[in-house]
Amino acid sequence: MDEMIALDLVDVSGGYVDAPIDPTLDLFAEIDRLKKEKNAVILAHYYQEPDIQDLADYVGDSLGLARQAAGTNADMILFAGVHFMAETAKILSPQKKVILPDLNAGCSLADSCPPDEFAAFRALHPDHLVISYINCSAAIKAQTDIIVTSSNAEHIIRQLPADQPIIFAPDKNLGRYISKVTGREMVLWDGSCIVHEVFSEQQLVRLKVQYPEALVLAHPECEEVVLRHADYIGSTTGILKYAQNSPEKQFIVATEAGILHQMEKTCPDKTFIAAPPGNGCSCNECPHMKLNTLEKVYLCLKYELPELLMEESVRIRALAPIQRMLEMSRAIG
Ligand code: 13P
Ligand code: SF4
Repeated sequence: MDEMIALDLVDVSGGYVDAPIDPTLDLFAEIDRLKKEKNAVILAHYYQEPDIQDLADYVGDSLGLARQAAGTNADMILFAGVHFMAETAKILSPQKKVILPDLNAGCSLADSCPPDEFAAFRALHPDHLVISYINCSAAIKAQTDIIVTSSNAEHIIRQLPADQPIIFAPDKNLGRYISKVTGREMVLWDGSCIVHEVFSEQQLVRLKVQYPEALVLAHPECEEVVLRHADYIGSTTGILKYAQNSPEKQFIVATEAGILHQMEKTCPDKTFIAAPPGNGCSCNECPHMKLNTLEKVYLCLKYELPELLMEESVRIRALAPIQRMLEMSRAIG
């Protein structure tokens, strides 16, 4: 009863639990204890702050996280990432409680594709197959034939019949890149990521002059002018694996700076340089991802709030294109 009353009094009006934390607590130990007590699993994206990556049960890219969410035996998933990732976990594992430290952790790319406008766009191309990047809302997934991630987009699109017209949404940069490597023409939705579109070609070229030995590793959400300088283009997991397997020692990394934590941790003998944004700001950090903090993770797990809830009719429609993605990308490790 006391616990019920306490939960009623928890303030989540801001989109996250706002409650005092005993300053003497060891948050790492407490999170570990709560995780065991509640049979919860913590899934974190590479763009989370280092502390969160270090305490997570699994750290990965969007494909890896979706696979984990689908396969976990835990009763509860704490998703340390952004809203569309937690939604994907709920779509795949509806019987599990999915909680996320801050409901405000959105995504500029997902926001660039409002469901009503997308429905009108699709209506203009009725014979097209709709392929959507996983960085979109459940309402967009529900209007999609196949979901892809940056790990499997090329692999999946190569499996489609050559004469099948395609709409690709919402990321025009990933769409353009996949179109280039597969030779497939696609109708692109005009969306992009605020983090990946700020990398400056000019600054990157300066950095290459400064570090002539360094290889450039870039995420396909970057603009074409940046991708043109890349020695390797791939998802966050792809970038990490490339650096781990390469005999080279210096890398310029054009994606959200959070990935550097795993790179430095797993390759202590190598140097990683974050590609600079155009205006000297710290906008190579995703402001949405960075809304999650260690304190919010602790409170979220303690109070099991905020919880991600979804209308069942939307979930069912969003599930089919994600399942197609998982089936079509089984060969990708
Ligand atoms: P991946 O981790 O799947 O490469 O995606 C990057 C991203 O922008 C996630 O929001
Ligand atoms: Fe969205 Fe870009 Fe942030 Fe990824 S890095 S969550 S695509 S805004």
